[in-house]
Amino acid sequence: MKPIILDVDTGIDDALAITYALNSPELDVIGLTTCFGNNSLENTTRSTLVILEKVGKPVPVYMGADKPLKRGINKFPIHVHGEYGLGNNFPDEPVRKPEAKSAADFIISQVKKRPHEITIIPVGPLTNLAQAIIKAPEIIPLFKEVIIMGGAVFAPGNVTPYSEANILADPEAADYVFSSGLPVTIVGLDVTMKTLLPAATLDDWRAMGTDDARFYADMTEFYIQAYEEFEPGFGGCALHDPLAVGVAIDPSFVRREEWNVKVVLEGEETGRTIASPEGELKVQVCTEVKADQFLKHFLGRIL
Ligand code: BDR
Ligand code: CA
Repeated sequence: MKPIILDVDTGIDDALAITYALNSPELDVIGLTTCFGNNSLENTTRSTLVILEKVGKPVPVYMGADKPLKRGINKFPIHVHGEYGLGNNFPDEPVRKPEAKSAADFIISQVKKRPHEITIIPVGPLTNLAQAIIKAPEIIPLFKEVIIMGGAVFAPGNVTPYSEANILADPEAADYVFSSGLPVTIVGLDVTMKTLLPAATLDDWRAMGTDDARFYADMTEFYIQAYEEFEPGFGGCALHDPLAVGVAIDPSFVRREEWNVKVVLEGEETGRTIASPEGELKVQVCTEVKADQFLKHFLGRIL
């Protein structure tokens, strides 16, 4: 079992990614860290706890950044993930509370305790990971792997024509992480936009007749409707965050290429991830995905 820290900004596809990870016997999710992003830190943490209670796994949750490293917060994407982050679901207050330790301190302590063993999967803004390596740069060579959902290296962006949401939410943090020497894999829109969860899946889930199945179907329907608004006829939603988890489970889902990746920090292209063959500090960029194989795997684990 791979020890995993899942860093989330829950979010509908984050909720699917958490569920997929917790239902996967290959992964040992040792902690969830939360960040602002799809909603305020308070709400992303609450939604994370709600999903944990649904899946019934007592994984500890550590709260992280409530804003980017150096700039203000962009508008939360309420139209994509709902008012609190789980679509039109407004579940009861979770019973469990987050731990006292901060996300960055949890990351630092675990990586030091288990050198070369920990894989971190950030699927929100990169603020928590950046804060951890700024505070304790000695942990940089001690990670096993850093599998990031974020960026649009060769594909167009999803917030602006250039930029993907997680990178645009904190471009300085992303640039810091990509240039740090961490063993980064970028699971960006280049591959995640090819992983379509078909709208018809919701009928299969609803036919299961359980409360959980209904909850996941209602939540995902909100996300699918948002896609439909942006691109009529899209017919589903992209499994952004679940694909990053999928790559941790089975690396053969994707093909990777080595590039030096920088983030644009100013002007109308802010948040753009630019790849160049020059430079020492390379990251792995996912360029192809076996989408059907991945989707089948994901659906077999989610409910
Ligand atoms: C990413 O942005 C967020 O809205 C999603 O949860 C995902 O992590 C996709 O661009
Ligand atoms: Ca996310």
